Amino acid sequence: MQFLATSLLLFLASFAIAKNIILTNDDGWAATNVRATYYKLKAAGHNVFLIAPVSQRSGWSGKFDIPTSKTLQTNGEFSYPAAGAPSWGHEANDDHIWYFNGTPASSVAFGLQYVLPEKFNNISIDLVVSGPNEGLNLAGLFTLSGTIAATYNSVYRNYPAVAFSGSNGNNSFFKDSLDLNDPKNPSTIYANLITNFVQELFKTQGSNPRALPLGVGLNVNLPKVGYEDESCTNPKWVYTRITGQDAATADLVYNKTSDSFVWAQKSYQALTACNNGDCSLPSEEFILEHTKCQSSVSAFSIDFDANLGLTNAVHGLIGGLFK
Ligand SMILES: *[C@@H]1O[C@H](CO)[C@@H](O)[C@H](O)[C@H]1NC(C)=O
Ligand SMILES: *[C@@H]1O[C@H](CO)[C@@H](O)[C@H](O)[C@H]1NC(C)=O
Ligand SMILES: *[C@@H]1O[C@H](CO)[C@@H](O)[C@H](O)[C@H]1NC(C)=O
Repeated sequence: MQFLATSLLLFLASFAIAKNIILTNDDGWAATNVRATYYKLKAAGHNVFLIAPVSQRSGWSGKFDIPTSKTLQTNGEFSYPAAGAPSWGHEANDDHIWYFNGTPASSVAFGLQYVLPEKFNNISIDLVVSGPNEGLNLAGLFTLSGTIAATYNSVYRNYPAVAFSGSNGNNSFFKDSLDLNDPKNPSTIYANLITNFVQELFKTQGSNPRALPLGVGLNVNLPKVGYEDESCTNPKWVYTRITGQDAATADLVYNKTSDSFVWAQKSYQALTACNNGDCSLPSEEFILEHTKCQSSVSAFSIDFDANLGLTNAVHGLIGGLFK
């Protein structure tokens, strides 16, 4: 009886927190990071749909590509699948793992407009998780990153969304590197950290049916862990803000000798200024580049309005037009 009661409680508890989650990324559906996170979120009891681009789409920002033919004209990442395969499809042995010949932003839309309504009775989604990206996505890469773009596109559509990016930049194929039982494998460590994070989001939900307020998403960056830094297996979470000290974005440098350009990353004054938010918080750059074994957690909103002070300053400049 005691055993039955305990089993029933555990059974009910697992239902209470079981959420419907879309998981995507920009490194492609076959990346080790995203596969590890899929299995760990699923093991925690969630109903996870991994729906991601068939190819590497890093740096494609919010571009919204949709397939122009029914079959792939080029190989998917790691030739998984190869050219000639359908432009969208799922793993033969798992109908919750999908690829789409599109971008991160359009893969989420593909999930919401096709996979869920056509194959899963239009089940409603509680959270969109993007990543963990292969490489950090700090501040100035906000508009450039495909990983983050999947989240702001989801926030537009009323879904709470969190972008995760990791310091392990290796573009690895899950068939080479997935090891869910290796406690030092960075993808496995990240997957466990993300699962804990998601559990916490839903735990503190209370009577609010949303994991995050309307219009808000999170950008999270994870440090080197496990094989990349054996002294770090359980990084500390730190509240940060997007922009701030050393916040940098893409730039180019012209080489006169070769008459060509090279990519560069540069910090600009407007990106380091604090116009909104809590100015006492450290920047993502500071936490990931100048401290060890800490993860940055920044809230962002898709409210593009300037704050009242800035709006009034602008109105003051162009007021003459409105007389
Ligand atoms: C699926 O559900 C969404 C959100 O509840 C709704 O807006 C949409 O119309 C539904 N789509 C279909 C095909 O039923
Ligand atoms: C990086 O990824 C490639 C492709 O999957 C893999 O063969 C290689 O072992 C990985 N390297 C490391 C250091 O994980
Ligand atoms: C500019 O290009 C030249 C010729 O390719 C090369 O030797 C040089 O290292 C480049 N300079 C810089 C600063 O990258």
